[in-house]
Amino acid sequence: MAGLLDISNPEPASPAVIAPPLWLLVELTYRCPLHCVFCYNPTQHARLQEEMTTAQWVDVMRQARALGAAQLGFSGGEPLLREDLEELVQEARHLGFYTNLITSGVGFTEARARRLKDAGLDHIQLSFQDSTRELNDFLSSTKTFDLKQRVARLIKQHDWPMVLNCVLHRHNLPHVDKIIEMALALDAEFLELANTQYYGWAWVNRDQLMPTHEQLIEAEAVVNRYREQINNRCRILFVVPDYFEERPKACMNGWGSVFLAIAPDGVALPCHNARNLPGLQLPRVQDQSLAEIWTRSNAFNAYRGEDWMQAPCRDCDERKKDFGGCRCQAFQITGDATNADPVCSKSPHHEKVIQLVKQAPVMREQPIIFRTDAASRLLHPEL
Ligand code: FES
Repeated sequence: MAGLLDISNPEPASPAVIAPPLWLLVELTYRCPLHCVFCYNPTQHARLQEEMTTAQWVDVMRQARALGAAQLGFSGGEPLLREDLEELVQEARHLGFYTNLITSGVGFTEARARRLKDAGLDHIQLSFQDSTRELNDFLSSTKTFDLKQRVARLIKQHDWPMVLNCVLHRHNLPHVDKIIEMALALDAEFLELANTQYYGWAWVNRDQLMPTHEQLIEAEAVVNRYREQINNRCRILFVVPDYFEERPKACMNGWGSVFLAIAPDGVALPCHNARNLPGLQLPRVQDQSLAEIWTRSNAFNAYRGEDWMQAPCRDCDERKKDFGGCRCQAFQITGDATNADPVCSKSPHHEKVIQLVKQAPVMREQPIIFRTDAASRLLHPEL
């Protein structure tokens, strides 16, 4: 592809200088009972149905722990759809990981709660789509609002620390106060208000989800008011949407720096969206050791460090802070993953982000697209 750095055969970095992957995310399955319009899973999920066996996952966890990984997130799709989840949690705990279950709540029953507690699960992150039943159920295209309330109570009854997570966008930003009240009523220790990042299904639906500046300013003021009132009763994290910023986020804390995701089919990913970047030879844990993948593979070395950077990142004194931003966003918006993240006002492509925000209101006659297998197949007839 013209203008792209040749990453087909990058110099493997020396294992001695590569820090361990501290944060291991195991995406046990792409299957999910919900159909969220902002799901970050690859839109080609219906064409990626292979799932690793219990023994393969155990092997991955052992290798990751030996490499130095300390935190382990069980994610998906919906990880509760895997009947071996308890066994995997138990093994993870035995290996010394701090474990976190990232769930929609569907499938979290009293019996499974007891089994997961016995297995040693440390922490649960439960997603809501909104504080109202109508919007929660609409955005996930399921009737799950009441179930999520029950699951939140069950989590607290079993004495787990709980993060409530709610993805924000133009439909629910006006409800931020109610979402905070809901988190307080459910006794959540943390509330993650994560403004939509435009990847996966959220990229497909970006015009439908894009908020206005005014909505964001108002929502942040509400969050700050609550923070003052409630102190540490519930810690609120407000993740700003980077399209409205002048500087990019330090995506993944730098490529190949601390984050390692393993997809259901065993593909090792430096970030959730890496499948969509051209030129990467994504390794599979079935074919190579994790140590080899982390330290020597093309995919993990492609954007590690600074050698891949072009101007303005190459000469920028902020490059050690944001690592040039997000490679996936650079590719998605500029067509070249080695460009600076166009969210950065120093990027020559920054205007494209401004246009995406500006155009959203006039592009909304398109229907919102739910994450379904049928939509996935339609979007990817080539696979
Ligand atoms: Fe892939 Fe940011 S999501 S690098």
